Amino acid sequence: MEHISLYRKYRPKTFDEVIGQEHITKTLQNQIMNNHIGHAYLFTGTRGTGKTSVAKIFALAVNCLTPVNGSPCGKCENCLNLQKDNDINIIEMDAASNNKVDDVREIREKVKFLPVGAKYKVYIIDEVHMLTDSAFNALLKTLEEPPEHIIFILATTEAHKLPQTILSRCVRFDFHLVSVSDLMKHLAKIFDKENIKYDEESLKLIATAGEGSVRDTLSIADSIASYCQGNITKEQTLEILGTTDYDLILSFFKEIKDREVGNILSLIDKIEKEGKNLAVFAKDLSKHARNLLVCKTCKDANDILNLPNDVFEKFKEQADLFEEKDLIRYMQVFSSAENELRYTLSVRLLLETTCLTAILGLEVKKN
Ligand SMILES: Nc1ncnc2c1ncn2[C@@H]1O[C@H](COP(=O)(O)OP(=O)(O)OP(=O)(O)O)[C@@H](O)[C@H]1O
Ligand SMILES: [Mg+2]
Ligand SMILES: [Zn+2]
Repeated sequence: MEHISLYRKYRPKTFDEVIGQEHITKTLQNQIMNNHIGHAYLFTGTRGTGKTSVAKIFALAVNCLTPVNGSPCGKCENCLNLQKDNDINIIEMDAASNNKVDDVREIREKVKFLPVGAKYKVYIIDEVHMLTDSAFNALLKTLEEPPEHIIFILATTEAHKLPQTILSRCVRFDFHLVSVSDLMKHLAKIFDKENIKYDEESLKLIATAGEGSVRDTLSIADSIASYCQGNITKEQTLEILGTTDYDLILSFFKEIKDREVGNILSLIDKIEKEGKNLAVFAKDLSKHARNLLVCKTCKDANDILNLPNDVFEKFKEQADLFEEKDLIRYMQVFSSAENELRYTLSVRLLLETTCLTAILGLEVKKN
């Protein structure tokens, strides 16, 4: 059987299935329920946060004969027809490949025709910032006097690239990055439906790695689930994400604190023999120094770090052992090494030197 990626399979079909964008979905639902619909919308925000999904739900909802709580019912004649691929009432256009003035003129010609078997024709123009200047001008003419039966939804990750003239004619909705806790709940639901086993820590690791994008989170989840063959473990998740084990990094920092040169060298040896990537490890070191500094100095540190709770406790404990100024110095030493590691031929030697420099408290010498 062909594998359908999780993010395709779980594209939301109603406003209630959209996560983390209540400020937008509530407003749109109200507009549908009160029959108070605009003619030009701008959806902006980071990739994979729901712009295209919400645009499609809205396009169906405005046409649905029996909307449920402002969402498309999915069952009426209009819902069924409009979901067909060749339907002419919902027109999706990718401005990245159709960015010429002629493409927009074609829209201007077509908007004159009434919808067929629907109330509204909805144009969804994705990546709208890619339009050429003359295409923008052509679009503007249509936006200035949109026919009653037409709705435009412009979507972009880069609203700042749009001309003010366009912006001022659209109702703007900013899609937010989705929080780790919302992503975790979403993942858990999907894993349960897919009969994929998981633990809380893996859930948190995957949700954090997605960096606020639902699509990215689901595609990371996809690769981990297939690697783990349906039984996701923390170890395998860490392996795939290429992150070092927290316990390893904690014990490494303990050796640094204790200035145990011999132990540091043998740990690096062990890490390399295990086939871990030393450059990735160096990155983890500078990140850890930063994380400890956050633990030490910020009030709601774990809101920033988003670590599993038991790990966070260990981090906090370790942070207490270090002085602020030392952590800042480690950040400097390790992050400058991180850059050099990309070019050096002897990663291991550079990493060893960096660690020893860090414990001696010397400046890294630049040649
Ligand atoms: N807010 C969300 N709630 C639930 N699922 C979401 C959400 N955002 C994205 N997704 C998931 O990610 C997939 C892609 O989302 P969508 O195409 O709507 O993102 P987008 O914001 O348009 O991204 P892009 O900027 O790359 O076009 C969806 O099929 C869905 O699985
Ligand atoms: Mg999109
Ligand atoms: Zn319907």
